[in-house]
Amino acid sequence: MCGIVGYVGKRDVVDVIFKGLTNLEYRGYDSAGMALQDCGELRIYKTLGKLINLKNELEERKSELKHPTSGIGHIRWATHGSPSLVNAHPHTCSCGRLVVVHNGIIENYKELREQLIKKGCNFRSQTDTETIAHLVADEYAKAKDLETAVRNSIKQLQGAYAICVMHKDVPNLIVGARKHAPMLVGIGEDENFIASDTPAIIEYTKKTIYLEDNEIAVVTKDSVKITDINGNTVNKKIEMLPWEPVALSKLGYKHFMLKEINEQPDVIRNVLNGKLYDIDAPVNLSEVKIDKETLKKLNKIQIIACGTSLHAAIVGKYLIEDFAGISVEVEASSEYIYRKTTTDSSTLVIGVSQSGETADTITAIKQAKEKNSHILIITNRPDSNMARLADSLIPVNAGIEVSVAATKSYSAQLISFYLLAIHLAEIKDSMDKEYLKNIKHELIQLPTKIEEILSNTSSIQECARKFSSYKNFIYIARGVNLASAYEGALKLKEISYINATGYPAGELKHGPIAMLDETMPVLAILIPGGITYEKVLSNSEEAKARNAKLIALTSSTDKAIDTLFDNVIRIPHVSEVLSPAITCVPLQLLAYYIAEFLGKDVDQPRNLAKSVTVE
Ligand code: M6R
Repeated sequence: MCGIVGYVGKRDVVDVIFKGLTNLEYRGYDSAGMALQDCGELRIYKTLGKLINLKNELEERKSELKHPTSGIGHIRWATHGSPSLVNAHPHTCSCGRLVVVHNGIIENYKELREQLIKKGCNFRSQTDTETIAHLVADEYAKAKDLETAVRNSIKQLQGAYAICVMHKDVPNLIVGARKHAPMLVGIGEDENFIASDTPAIIEYTKKTIYLEDNEIAVVTKDSVKITDINGNTVNKKIEMLPWEPVALSKLGYKHFMLKEINEQPDVIRNVLNGKLYDIDAPVNLSEVKIDKETLKKLNKIQIIACGTSLHAAIVGKYLIEDFAGISVEVEASSEYIYRKTTTDSSTLVIGVSQSGETADTITAIKQAKEKNSHILIITNRPDSNMARLADSLIPVNAGIEVSVAATKSYSAQLISFYLLAIHLAEIKDSMDKEYLKNIKHELIQLPTKIEEILSNTSSIQECARKFSSYKNFIYIARGVNLASAYEGALKLKEISYINATGYPAGELKHGPIAMLDETMPVLAILIPGGITYEKVLSNSEEAKARNAKLIALTSSTDKAIDTLFDNVIRIPHVSEVLSPAITCVPLQLLAYYIAEFLGKDVDQPRNLAKSVTVE
């Protein structure tokens, strides 16, 4: 939540910070702001709402600017204080000579604020961030050195922060610091960058230093100095970013979400690459750094995740239990961290996260790490904080995902779980070899079948058009596709704001059926040949009997389906156990087209942010 960009150097500072913020807009879009060091002046610009408003403001006031040579920028996802101009970052100290941008939450801000008010500080906003501005200014008055002032200030802060600070007295110098919130430094030639995430700097440099908790970066045009909380110099490794700038382009698609949905066949090929190429060979998952004997004896796994990643985890549970016979618990990270868990050194704990930044999952993983569990992280960001906590790391290689709604990362997570479940089954010799061969064969065929769906979306678009005016939906399924129902419903609600609930089909008659009438469509996932098909069909009949409009998502060619259901979305057939990897695609498209017809902001839905870095 919230994105930060800092820049000192030879380029057009406004342009670099603005583009950087644009590439971080997935982190929040309640307000935006920029502070610039401009020939001895400190100029501040803030606007409410999306970045485009800041662009217009900067355009209107461009005659004020002489030659800015450094600056810091921010996009906000509001935590303390409503989205308003006065709460927008950057925040300043009372005299306005020091500016701060911040991502995170300062938990002791109220006490600090009271102390600073007693010292005469003049607070204007409701934010926790403004406290940092006054605090650092207070320390600067004593130390007369910005780095020391920041160091002395962060010693007093509790909570999470990534901050960038500038002072009018020391032009072209930015001090950054972090704790429990991401921050990196980009190294250029005659220029340097600070940012919350790599998309902000990828256009200019691939050389990066990741700051750790309690580290401080002092950045000028031609130097970067990293020190720890005690002022000792830290020699950091310079890492090369794996991304290409083209990943941040829509490549002709109307929205990133549609582009990312369409990338899924290649994403799946990518995940399989090097791990599964021959159905007669065992899956190669050398990323799992647990010796075979320990794996053979493993009898408990816990998977922790949030949102879409949690849905991938539910599929993972089903697969691991089915293929490898190991008992798996799945829990939302935000629940896991508030109770005594039964994790121990013989439990494998798997954290799943697209961003690798989700605060609840990071805290849950740390909690499990303290109990000496082996930590396996499945993430799209091998460069993330979560990845750094891993004993074993499976990078899902979906490429950068820009749209707030997770799509291709979900497919990549699912495929990673198929590979993991097969890998465990092969080590434990727990599954019929022919069965596993068939699954592997189907996995390799999967991208082509998804391409078939993507090449003709007319039935999905028709369904979206027909149902876009409904206010409530229930998605039903059983077994391994229950997670697909949860995920399809989540996609619909997050981008169209329509109330949609994923529900076990068999549970409908235990309560929710009371809500059914002609205003509440029921979408049923029916995969023939498996163990749930007939049952979901009966549950659909029950819904029809209550006048609900019915949508089928199915690979069945049975004509009876066309009679029973009002709309049928047909998909190529795969076996039931593999079907979540294919049913997710039409469900993503259905949500996308409904949101599109309703004119919603598909890539940046209201109230959301892609990286949820607060608990
Ligand atoms: O980055 P993560 O996978 O840890 O994020 C978890 C959720 O915040 C995320 O999946 C969220 O639910 C998405 N907006 C879903 O589309």
